[in-house]
Amino acid sequence: MVLVTGGAGYIGGTTARYLIEQGEQVVILDSLVSSKEEDVPKNAIFYKGDIADTELVTNIVKKHNIEACLHFAAFIEVAESVENPYKYFENNTSKSLILINTLKNNGVSKIVFSSTAAVYGEPKYTPIDENHPLNPVNPYGMSKFFIENILSSYDASSNVRFVALRYFNACGAWGGSGEKHNPETHLIPLILQVPLGKREKIYINGTDYNTPDGTCIRDYIHVYDLANAHYLALKYLRAGGKSEKINLGTGKGFSIKEVIEVCEKVAEKEINKEIRGRRAGDPAVLIASNKKAKEILGWNITYNNLYDIVQSAYLFHSNIFKS
Ligand SMILES: NC(=O)c1ccc[n+]([C@@H]2O[C@H](COP(=O)([O-])OP(=O)(O)OC[C@H]3O[C@@H](n4cnc5c(N)ncnc54)[C@H](O)[C@@H]3O)[C@@H](O)[C@H]2O)c1
Repeated sequence: MVLVTGGAGYIGGTTARYLIEQGEQVVILDSLVSSKEEDVPKNAIFYKGDIADTELVTNIVKKHNIEACLHFAAFIEVAESVENPYKYFENNTSKSLILINTLKNNGVSKIVFSSTAAVYGEPKYTPIDENHPLNPVNPYGMSKFFIENILSSYDASSNVRFVALRYFNACGAWGGSGEKHNPETHLIPLILQVPLGKREKIYINGTDYNTPDGTCIRDYIHVYDLANAHYLALKYLRAGGKSEKINLGTGKGFSIKEVIEVCEKVAEKEINKEIRGRRAGDPAVLIASNKKAKEILGWNITYNNLYDIVQSAYLFHSNIFKS
């Protein structure tokens, strides 16, 4: 069976649903620190608990004969990590180290880890490939960078093999899972809150970047495609694949203004917006090279179209705000 940490959250929950659809048996461990029990996918076995609870993790591994772990559980807010680095290094780094060690001690040797494009920091070139220098510029990115390195050390010293997946901007909804972060800081759900009557306007942070329309460009990858990549990474490790660090993005970028335009088309409404100054630490362009994911995992992207991505999110949020 497969252990999914953080499986009540957005990406972990979607991946757990996807795995179950593929016939996998899934055990979820989530403390519900940033999610709710109602968000745990049905047909998964659920444990409410912390990834650093060594006794609980040991019992789960033994009882369910856990063969692999997909480790999503983490805190994810960049700005909060700058204000409160301890919270991020404790939860994302220290607790992940304890989890990885417990898994290893109990014979779980395959780990798929949720890493992030934030490990690269300010891009030196774009699209960013996996050979790009790693220079995280905030504690969130640093907390993940440490775990990538810790996993490499376990790879060198034991039979633990891992795939660290560096997601770019996760978005969209699938199978009843969508973004429900509290507070929400991600662009597409924030924009969609405006036509759905939950927010007065969307702020555009800076229109003087070195991009065609002056706003920042990002690579938006649908959560379904992330879920599929996790399944491929699991199969890759089962087939004896060596440890790898792999980007997950579409390889295409959209500016903030372009994303707002697509949201307006999907919602069939003009969206109230206000331009303000740049936010500290926002690179102008972040686009992934996804060549390695395609070559090593055989990954193909289903959601290539921003309209379809936004539409899936809009349907999800319309339903949430109705209920
Ligand atoms: N959302 C993105 O755009 C994005 C981009 C890059 C990387 N990631 C990474 O993907 C992973 C999932 O992100 P998400 O957007 O689904 O976040 P999320 O907040 O929706 O889900 C995280 C889940 O982990 C749980 N959790 C946190 N700490 C825990 C702990 N110590 N023990 C047990 N459970 C714990 C939370 O309760 C929550 O259910 C994270 O590791 C994040 O860093 C996300």
